[in-house]
Amino acid sequence: MSNDAVAHSFNTLGIVGTGAMGRGIAQLAAQAGLNVMLFDVKEGAVAEATAFIHELWQRSADKQRITQAQAEQYGERLIEAPDLAALASCDIVVEAIIEKLEAKQGLFSDLEGIVRQDAVLATNTSSLSVTAIAAACQHPERVIGFHFFNPVPLMKIVEVIPGLRTADTVTQRVNALGTAMGHFTAQATDTPGFLVNHAGRAFGTEALRILSESVADPATIDRIMVDQGGFRMGPFTLLDLTGLDVSHAVMESVYHQYYEEPRFRPSPLTRQRLSAGLLGRKTGEGFYRYVDGQQQMPEEPAIATASPCPVWISQDDPGSAAQLAELVATAGWPLESADQPSSEALCLLTPLGEDTTQCALRQGLNAEQCVAVDMLAGLDKRRSLMASPITRPELVNAAASLLNADGTPVSTLQDSTGFVLQRVVACIVNVGADIAQQGVAEPATIDRAVELGLGYPFGPLRMGDHYGASRILTILNNLLAATGDPRYRPSPWLRRRAALGMSLTDRPTG
Ligand SMILES: NC(=O)c1ccc[n+]([C@@H]2O[C@H](COP(=O)([O-])OP(=O)(O)OC[C@H]3O[C@@H](n4cnc5c(N)ncnc54)[C@H](O)[C@@H]3O)[C@@H](O)[C@H]2O)c1
Repeated sequence: MSNDAVAHSFNTLGIVGTGAMGRGIAQLAAQAGLNVMLFDVKEGAVAEATAFIHELWQRSADKQRITQAQAEQYGERLIEAPDLAALASCDIVVEAIIEKLEAKQGLFSDLEGIVRQDAVLATNTSSLSVTAIAAACQHPERVIGFHFFNPVPLMKIVEVIPGLRTADTVTQRVNALGTAMGHFTAQATDTPGFLVNHAGRAFGTEALRILSESVADPATIDRIMVDQGGFRMGPFTLLDLTGLDVSHAVMESVYHQYYEEPRFRPSPLTRQRLSAGLLGRKTGEGFYRYVDGQQQMPEEPAIATASPCPVWISQDDPGSAAQLAELVATAGWPLESADQPSSEALCLLTPLGEDTTQCALRQGLNAEQCVAVDMLAGLDKRRSLMASPITRPELVNAAASLLNADGTPVSTLQDSTGFVLQRVVACIVNVGADIAQQGVAEPATIDRAVELGLGYPFGPLRMGDHYGASRILTILNNLLAATGDPRYRPSPWLRRRAALGMSLTDRPTG
């Protein structure tokens, strides 16, 4: 049912826990016209939160984003609750207290003795089961997840998570409330990580896996994901920003809640770094160092200019071969057009999910001459190269020099089953496809939620369509064959749609 069809019909909203999240939710609710009653166990916490919100509104009024009258009107809607019992008149109470099951269960049991029987109890939990929180209530049908993201006013998405016993009317009203508060409401099932934190598993986990295989250092991986992948920030910059204390816990939590699903397997690297206190930006050092809050990004290695040598291009993928041939012609290097390369040629390969070694041997080529180029995202922004362990160093340098001839940056990797971009993108798409397969949310919701909640250039299903579902499937199948690691097994959602030539956003018909 469309959210617009239902009025939320909540007049008074209670907030319990007025920390980072509670105050943001209070601000949006007041702006949406609700009276908001705030309660916190900590002395002075509500006064601090309301002063914080008033100041935000005053600043908006000063910048003429809202009128002075609006700022005052919103302000009048915030009411301090001296105790929990004062929330008796609330139509809905949203809790944003500590992330402990017993604390949330205890609070909701207490609230059941205070609020009307038709009042809704909503939890902002990010990692606990809504169904488990509701299990302690006499009326679990009124309990629902209402999961905002930090900072609440700027992150324009809220997940609406009905527990197994939540009433449909409660879900519809809370969806309508989220919309009225100005956010995209992503309804998802009560599963570990819900939608956004589930979909976000692959980005960091696969990047850590690539790092642990010594394919590239964090700065190289980040540059590739930003320049070639179009991500706002690379995975290691993001891990440093979030802090390993938070992100390692989320990685472990989702992995264990899914009974050790290999797709979410965390890396031993983060546990070790956590023990060393290398949490990221907040401790001044993580994967990068921070001086006066500024990330210290290591310089890119310089590429020595090489004299032109004959270049032979594999016709494995004719489209990619044509793009590379054009680049070679523009650079003015001699191109060999015979079926087989001469013994002095630089051989350029264009593998998907294979390493240079395997790709060279499969084609009967001499691996000493071979360098692979990642063609998944084309050649526009940055170019990634990798070489087999026996590729002649002068040919690796020749390839880097050729691909850098027009000034486009080049990253050179150690041999990897599928470069950096291919691996991370394929894992993001695969996790997103499996979220669709599990029916956690509608395909369009999955994509929009990931774009808003994680800031990816595309949601995972649209990302799969963008790069081509069959190419993503080839990458995963080759990764699976080469490593034997079930983390790379393709989701049935992806496998079927790739085989049938469907869009990954298509639902089953009927
Ligand atoms: N911070 C985030 O990025 C984020 C994002 C999404 C969801 N969440 C979830 O939101 C909830 C709150 O997180 P936060 O970051 O705002 O925490 P916070 O520490 O900033 O605020 C929690 C507040 O709750 C109060 N509190 C604790 N126990 C209480 C109780 N029994 N009754 C009343 N008040 C109580 C504390 O005094 C504190 O003011 C947690 O469940 C968290 O997992 C947090």
